[in-house]
Order: sequence, then C-alpha cells, then structure tokens
Amino acid sequence: MALVNEHFLKLPESYLYTDIARRVNAFRATHRGADPVNLGIGDVTEPLPPACVEAMREAVEELGRRETFRGYGPERGYDFLTEAILKHDYAAHGIRLGAEEIFVNDGAKGDTGSIGELLRWDNSMAVPDPAYPVYAESNILWGRSGQQEEGGAWSNLTYLPCTAESRFVPHVPDHRVDLVYLCSPGNPTGTALTRAELKQWVDYALENDTILIYDGAYESYVRETGVPRSIYEIRGARRVAVEIRSFSKTAGFTGVRCGYTVIPRELTVSTLEGERIALGALWARRQSVRSGGTGYVAQRGAAAVYTPEGQEQVRALTDFYLGNARFMREELKRMGLEVAGGENAPYLWLRVPEGMTSWRFFDRLLYEAHVVSAPGCGFGPHGEGYLRLTAFNSAENCREAMRRIRKIL
Ligand code: MLT
Repeated sequence: MALVNEHFLKLPESYLYTDIARRVNAFRATHRGADPVNLGIGDVTEPLPPACVEAMREAVEELGRRETFRGYGPERGYDFLTEAILKHDYAAHGIRLGAEEIFVNDGAKGDTGSIGELLRWDNSMAVPDPAYPVYAESNILWGRSGQQEEGGAWSNLTYLPCTAESRFVPHVPDHRVDLVYLCSPGNPTGTALTRAELKQWVDYALENDTILIYDGAYESYVRETGVPRSIYEIRGARRVAVEIRSFSKTAGFTGVRCGYTVIPRELTVSTLEGERIALGALWARRQSVRSGGTGYVAQRGAAAVYTPEGQEQVRALTDFYLGNARFMREELKRMGLEVAGGENAPYLWLRVPEGMTSWRFFDRLLYEAHVVSAPGCGFGPHGEGYLRLTAFNSAENCREAMRRIRKIL
C-alpha cells in the first residue's frame, strides 16, 4: 500500500484562482449572456511582441529541418539566452554575474515553489502577508508551514504584515528566520520596495544567515527612479539572495512559459555539521534529476526580448498595462475607494467598503457589476478587507469595468 505524503492533504481544497474560476463559472451558469470583465487572475491579454513571434517562428522552422533540428537542450538554458540576460538585465545595470549563476526555467512559478525542496523541512520561514499564495502553499508540501489555524494563518510561518500603515511594505521581523520570500513590485499589493527598504532586508539576511527568495516577476513595471529592479543592486545581496524573474508579465509569455532563476556563487547553505554548500550547485544537480530544460522555441522567443525591437515592444506592452492601471487607479479614487499599487506594478489593491469582507465584495462586483476580481483574503490573513484588480486587459475592458463599478457604488 502506498502511503500519501500527508502534507499534501493540508493544502486548501483549491488554489485561489481555481476557486475564483469556479465562482465565475457558477455566475455564468446562472446569468446566461452576461459578459463579465476579468480583472481577477493576473493573466496577460495582449498579443506577443512581434520580435518574439518572429524569433519563435524561425525556431520552429529550424526544428523542422534535419540540418538544424535540436533535441534536448542544456538543463540550465541555451547560451544565447543566458548571455542576453547577463548583458541586458544585469551588466547594463552594473551587476556582474556569471553564466553558471543563471538557470533558465519555464516561468517563475515552478522554481518559486521548488526552491524550498533544497532546504530541510524544519527551517523557519517568513512570508509577506498578503503574498502570492505559492510561497506558503509550496512550503506546506515540504511540511514547513505547520497547521492551518482559524483565520487562515499557518502555525509555523512568520507573517510579515503589509498594511496601509506600513505602505504595504513587509518589514524585517524582530526574530531570526532561515528563509524569507519577498516580491517587489509586490503581488498582490502592487507596492515596490525602495532601496532603503530592500537594504534593510539584505542587512537582516546578512546578520541572521537568512536566505531571501526574491520574486522579481514584475520588475519590468518599475518606472520610478530609485526603486531597485534587482536585489543585487544592494551590496551583499549575492551572499543571501536568490532572484527569480519571468518573461510572463514582461513579454506576455504566460502561455509560452519562460523565466529564469539567479543563484549567486557565494550563496551557501549549511549542513547540520556546519559545512557550507553552494546552493547553486545543489540546484544544478536537482535540475539534472527533475528538469528536461525549457523549450528551445520559448527560449528563442525570450532572447528576442533583448533585441532593440524587442526592448521597444516590451516597453510599449508594459506601458500599456501601466496605462490601464493608472486610469483605473484614478477612477477608483474618484469613486471614493482607497487604492494602492498601480504605479510600478500591474496590480491595484483596494480596501473594500466598510462592513464587507473580501469575498462579499468580490461577489458584489461579480453579481452586480459583472467584474471579476481577486479577494484579498486569498493572499493571506492581512489581505482580508481588500481586493485585487489587475490591469491585464484591454483598455476598453478596463474602462467598461470602471463604468460598471461606478454604477453600483
Ligand atoms: C496572479 O494573478 O497572481 C498571477 O497570475 C499569478 C501567477 O503569475 O502565477
């Protein structure tokens, strides 16, 4: 008899976005002909940048010819992509990294969830609250999160409250933890950490021998000068931080799947005997067992992001979503709602009207305004009383959503 990994059974019955989809399906079934505007899951809507399309078309043709066909690719990613990442995302910003420190992946979610597999189950861990559900949920699977308590919190996690009073920024805890997840610009609050705030985290990690898992999936939305785009802009971060990035929100790759993880050489973890082991070497070994690499076509598409045309097109794409965010932010404020985010991120974080819960306001927007959102409580206990809207939709749909919300408020 095979026994189940019981930690799996602790997972909430469904993933947040599955739950939202289920509710939207129920709404559709009872409201035939209604056409809800989807500002729920952060999935892009605009077509791929032409430079990426062209590169992928050529890649497919290469694979279709005997002379240029390729089979398995390198586990860490093709040199053409790694070199473009190093040059444009790091060297151009004064950050020196080597090819062996970059691991191309099939989008940030997988690595964000899997990196914890390299660490003993009893490491202590902190997550921003609210945060992308994958941070806490993937660690439930390794037995690291403990038990879920009333109110939704996990007994072994340290929650870093991101409240209106703290500008939705997670602050360093008053005790040490082994592992901290950070996301900037943040999902779901849309708040970006300033250099000083990020430095506090790096200093905390250096002092406490803590590993920071830095989710930079939204870095291409940073527009404010002085807001770091990479954690390695902060001195000392190479010794403590893993950075994970994605082409999903940058270049519309949610369906194509490509991203990368950076694990600097200096970043080490300890055995019980105190021997230090390079995390990157462990990850490389793990990849050789667990990963078949990322598709050649996707990697060619991603490399095209770094061509001059690609850079222009990607900037136009992110500007477009930021334009939606700006528009909605102003509209919602005019409606008297308290709104954060939307300046360096494609997410808006709103406080729900007095006396309502996140799910009740979610239902009200769905059933009365026909607008799909994401309830704040799905991102953590401190998300209760908030709601997230994404700017990933057409300008017309964003306008329509605001018109509908205004009508019911
Ligand atoms: C979100 O809506 O939070 C994102 O789409 C999550 C993701 O990128 O997986």
